[in-house]
Amino acid sequence: MKALVLIGGFGTRLRPITLTVPKQLIPLAGKPMLYHVLDLLPADVDEVVLATGYKADLIDAYVREHPLRWPVRTVPEAEPLGTGGGMKNAGSGMSDPFYLLNSDVIASVELAKVADAHAARGGVGVMTLAEVDDPRPYGVAALGENDRITGFVEKPEPERAPSRWINAGLAVYAREVLDAIPGGRPVSFEREVVPGLLERGLYGYRLTGYWDDAGTPERLLRSQRLLFEDGRAGRSRLPAGAFGTGPVAAMAGASAEGASFGPHVTLGPGVRVEAGAHVENSILMEGTHVEREATVVGSILGPHTRVRAGHRVAGQVLGERAEA
Ligand code: GTP
Repeated sequence: MKALVLIGGFGTRLRPITLTVPKQLIPLAGKPMLYHVLDLLPADVDEVVLATGYKADLIDAYVREHPLRWPVRTVPEAEPLGTGGGMKNAGSGMSDPFYLLNSDVIASVELAKVADAHAARGGVGVMTLAEVDDPRPYGVAALGENDRITGFVEKPEPERAPSRWINAGLAVYAREVLDAIPGGRPVSFEREVVPGLLERGLYGYRLTGYWDDAGTPERLLRSQRLLFEDGRAGRSRLPAGAFGTGPVAAMAGASAEGASFGPHVTLGPGVRVEAGAHVENSILMEGTHVEREATVVGSILGPHTRVRAGHRVAGQVLGERAEA
C-alpha cells in the first residue's frame, strides 16, 4: 500500500511561526510533527506521497536531508487545492486501497489494523474517529450498525453535531474515492466528497488510544505532552549539565549547561539555553537563544528567537527572529 499525506495547508492557527515555517516541520518531543504522523505507517508501505503546497520547498529540503524509511515523493500544488484537490493532484498511481493522512495530528493507532478493517468490511473506506468533548471544529460522524457512517457534518453548529466522534485525519480509502473528486479546482474532501461516499459504504474506526489535533498552540503543547508520556522521545531526560525534572528532547547541537527544566520541552537544533535560565512545557525552535536567568513557560518560540537575560516569556507564540 501507498500513503498519501496532506501537507499543503497554511497553518494559520499557528501564526506567526507558520509565516516562515510550515507547521509540519515544528518539532515536538524531538522531531517534526510530520515525522510523528509518518511513524504511524506500517514498515511495509511502498511509497509515501506528500501532497505539498504552502512552503513546499522547505518540506522537500527537510525530507531530503532527513530520509524516511520509505521512498518519498512530493507533489506540490501551484495553487492551494484544498484537501480533496490535493488528493486528486497527488493521487495518480495510488495503490488500491491507500492510506490518507493529515499531517497535523498525533495519535496512538496501528494503521495496519485500519487497513484490515477495510479489507474485512469492503465499501469505499474506513475513517478513524476520535471522541472529543467539543466536536464543533471538526468533521463529525453519525454512526449506524457496525459503525457504518450514516451522516457526516463538517464543522457543525452545536445543535447539529450528530455525535462526539470526529474525523481523526487518518484513514484507508479505496482508489475509486479519487475518481469521486472533481479535478482542476479547489475541493474540500470533507465537505464536498465525503457525504457522497456514505451510500457506497464508509465505516468508522473508533480510536481508543490518545489523539490530538496539533494545529493550535495550546493543542501543539498538549500533543507534545502526550508524545513524551508515550515514550516517543527516547530515553534522555535532560541535556548535559542541566538540572530539574524534564523530560527534555534536545536536538542536534542544543546546549543548556546550568539551565533548569520542568517537564516537556523540545530544544531544536542549535538552541542555546544559558545557565540560570528555566524552561518548561515549551518548544524552542532551531537557533533560539535563552539568556541567563530568563524563564520560558508554556510557549512556542520560532527559529532564532532571543529571550533576553532575566526576561519571562509565558503562554506566548513568537515568530522567527523575535526578541523578548
Ligand atoms: P489552519 O490554517 O490553521 O486551519 O491549518 P491548515 O491549513 O493545516 O488546515 P487544516 O488543519 O484544516 O488542514 C488539514 C490537513 O490538510 C493538514 O494536514 C493540511 O496541511 C492539509 N491541507 C489543508 N489545505 C490543503 C491544501 O490546499 N492542499 C494540500 N495538499 N493540503 C492541505
